[in-house]
Amino acid sequence: MKKTVLVSGGAGFIGSHVTVELVEAGYDVVVADNMSNCDMTCFDGVTKIIGRRLPFIRMDFCDMEAVERLFSDYQIDAVIHFAAFKAVGESVAEPILYYRNNLSSFLNVLEAARSHGGCNVLFSSSATVYGEPDETPVTERSPRQPATSPYGNTKQMCEDFLRDAVKAYPEIKGIALRYFNPIGAHPSALIGELPRGVPNNLVPFITQTAIGKRECLNIFGNDYPTPDGTCLRDYIDIVDLAKAHVCAVARMLDGRMKEPYEIFNIGTGRPVSVLELVNAFEKVNGVKVNHRFAPRRAGDVTAIWADPSLANRELGWKAERSVEDTLAAAWAWEKHLAGK
Ligand code: UD1
Repeated sequence: MKKTVLVSGGAGFIGSHVTVELVEAGYDVVVADNMSNCDMTCFDGVTKIIGRRLPFIRMDFCDMEAVERLFSDYQIDAVIHFAAFKAVGESVAEPILYYRNNLSSFLNVLEAARSHGGCNVLFSSSATVYGEPDETPVTERSPRQPATSPYGNTKQMCEDFLRDAVKAYPEIKGIALRYFNPIGAHPSALIGELPRGVPNNLVPFITQTAIGKRECLNIFGNDYPTPDGTCLRDYIDIVDLAKAHVCAVARMLDGRMKEPYEIFNIGTGRPVSVLELVNAFEKVNGVKVNHRFAPRRAGDVTAIWADPSLANRELGWKAERSVEDTLAAAWAWEKHLAGK
């Protein structure tokens, strides 16, 4: 029988790409989102890509009654939880908002999972939990560092909620995927990243500068102790990242987990500097990205990239797309948005 996967926050950037990959892998998917940080663009894009409209529930995961109803209305075999606020700077300014939203929505998911006889829970975590690592690349055994923002703290706390829930309630199994820097867009250019206002993240800022929406990209810091002085990150293609979720869900549903709570790094294992990324974007797309060096951004770490060998081995997953193809997809998406 077909298994049903609930995707909370499924209308957003990562959720929409994961939804497409789950459908293509043969799962029934239920999408739920409160639309607090997106519009229907990506959900409509998903409909076009897969050729049919999936069940969509507009709801807030902080509303326990709504979460209970959802778990009663559908026989959910696994839930992938994306529904959360994600702007680091905003979380510093509005910590209560971030704690209330990100923590209570996940607690509600865990509580509903438990009260409905158990469930497989996949939590979308982040490399931010490693802070400024002492050693790179980081493995899942690298220590978590004290969070530098309420956003980062909610990722750590939700990981702990899942670990402790799994320990206490055998009917719940959990996987946390720690993403490095997800970038790019679906090859169809029908779904992609849709930041509201001025983008915080690098690639949307690059594409908006290239298309003329922003005047100039500020490269935050060129005096870091790295080969070219700019920060090093592990940029992971969004479709590759989405496929890791399919592998993780299958592992849970097929009873292949080695522990009831598992953590995997989802990255390429390849460090790329900010300057290298800008240069690669210009080269592959044949466009100029007006840029200048600016002071360091508070809270940025110098260098972090993944050791993805655990995910490679255990999930049977590997990042496949080149950074050039990913940057071409990001540009195609920006042009699609601009109607070009
Ligand atoms: C950020 C968050 C991280 C979150 C992730 C989600 C911080 C400190 N970290 O990661 O918690 O999980 O986004 O994708 O905000 N850069 C520029 N100019 C820009 C924008 C970025 O030079 O206009 C540089 C940054 O200094 C950094 C790199 O580009 O070196 C990547 O930045 P970004 O895309 O914001 O991701 P992170 O900061 O790594």
